[in-house]
Amino acid sequence: MALPEADKNKKADNRTTMDLGAVLPLTAEVRGSHLYIGGVDMVQLARDLGTALYVFDEADLRFRMESYRSAFRSRYEKSDIVFASKAFINKAVVRLVEEEGLCLDVSGGGELACARAVGFPMERVVVHGNNKTPQELDEAITAGVGRIVVDSRIELARISRIAARHGVVQDIYLRITPGVEADTHAYIQTGCEDSKFGFNMRDDWAFTCVKDALETAHVHLVGLHMHIGSQIFALHSYPEAIRVMVSLMARVKQEYGQTIEELDVGGGLGIAYTAEDRPSSIDEFAEVVTTAVRNCCEEHGLALPRLLCEPGRSLVANAGVTLYTVGILKTLPGIRKYVAIDGGMSDNIRTALYHAVYEPVIANKADEPRTEIVTLCGKHCESGDAVVIDMPLQHPDIDDIVCVFATGAYNHTMASNYNGQPRPAIVFVKDGEARVVTRRESYDDLMARDLESH
Ligand code: LLP
Repeated sequence: MALPEADKNKKADNRTTMDLGAVLPLTAEVRGSHLYIGGVDMVQLARDLGTALYVFDEADLRFRMESYRSAFRSRYEKSDIVFASKAFINKAVVRLVEEEGLCLDVSGGGELACARAVGFPMERVVVHGNNKTPQELDEAITAGVGRIVVDSRIELARISRIAARHGVVQDIYLRITPGVEADTHAYIQTGCEDSKFGFNMRDDWAFTCVKDALETAHVHLVGLHMHIGSQIFALHSYPEAIRVMVSLMARVKQEYGQTIEELDVGGGLGIAYTAEDRPSSIDEFAEVVTTAVRNCCEEHGLALPRLLCEPGRSLVANAGVTLYTVGILKTLPGIRKYVAIDGGMSDNIRTALYHAVYEPVIANKADEPRTEIVTLCGKHCESGDAVVIDMPLQHPDIDDIVCVFATGAYNHTMASNYNGQPRPAIVFVKDGEARVVTRRESYDDLMARDLESH
């Protein structure tokens, strides 16, 4: 069976758009029957620019960046927020990150290239990845990135060789897997012992790798890094993991006489995808993290390290929505009602991959209650191709504009050209103005890399 069997008892919730609360972008409002974001009519925008279309509320993006910065800085002076660009990257968002004074996490040569293209300050870049290629490492080192997060012994040696060749000393972190199982989908748990990432604590592995790093030429070990997972609601995993990290820092100080100056606690704060979700706030997250670091350092008599935190999803997910046009309606009596949209798993793979749940509304009926249970299926040649499975929606008609909320993170960055689908354009909206920051792919783009002409 392609989709899970529909729950026959599921009832429409009769919510209208504004009842969706924390799921909505900051400036979402309903004027008449239309949904507006950033003062822009989503129905008109969809008709003007075509669908599928990713739309971002710029005020929301800036607000969350500023909220993170002040939530941490007000509690912990030596702190920085590093935006995990894997959640959402294009030139416009990197510029915004720069303007808002955040650092940038890149996890591949392409993300670094984007940062360089807009002149993002390289000293504010943190480079990630469990298998950075020698070429990517070379690009990062010659670009002068601030920190490279070392994920293996082999990589440590590679960085040393490349830095030596360029006559520089590269600042590095070591990625540690603290052995904490965060409460989230197994595919996005990254802090447990069995992980492809980093060094775990078993048999003093992490501890001896710290020694290796301290003794390796052309690298300077400035910090330790952890990232326990993503879409985390239960914050207690953070103090657990921070306790492990700070104990390691204390042991390094005691046995090697070296101070670890920086601690990067990764990202992972969950967000509201549905009206029922109750994620912790940015403030609560900052409180838990900074208190844990402070308490653990005090316990061990360590000076407070510079603290970095690396959110992706919680900075951008709720700012983004995806607009689609309804093309086909198909009701299978006693089974489910399919509403086919002009996108699908090519612009949002998360439903197929993680059974993610999204809230949809009809942007041209935004003031009406959601009286039906529908499945928003995509246009791809797979039965599992759905963006929304059995969720409430206003009564749908052909040509309605559907808006799916909270698609700002890991949608565009995980998009594909399956079935030759051009990837959607990206629009930033603010103060009644819309600007296309990434244009829609064309058919020519799809064939641009093909060298045989016939
Ligand atoms: N730092 C590192 C080293 C990471 O690997 C990640 C995410 C983050 C920070 C940001 O985590 P966030 O704050 O966004 O939770 N594709 C999945 C999520 C994968 C997360 C990968 N790493 C999804 O769509 O749910």
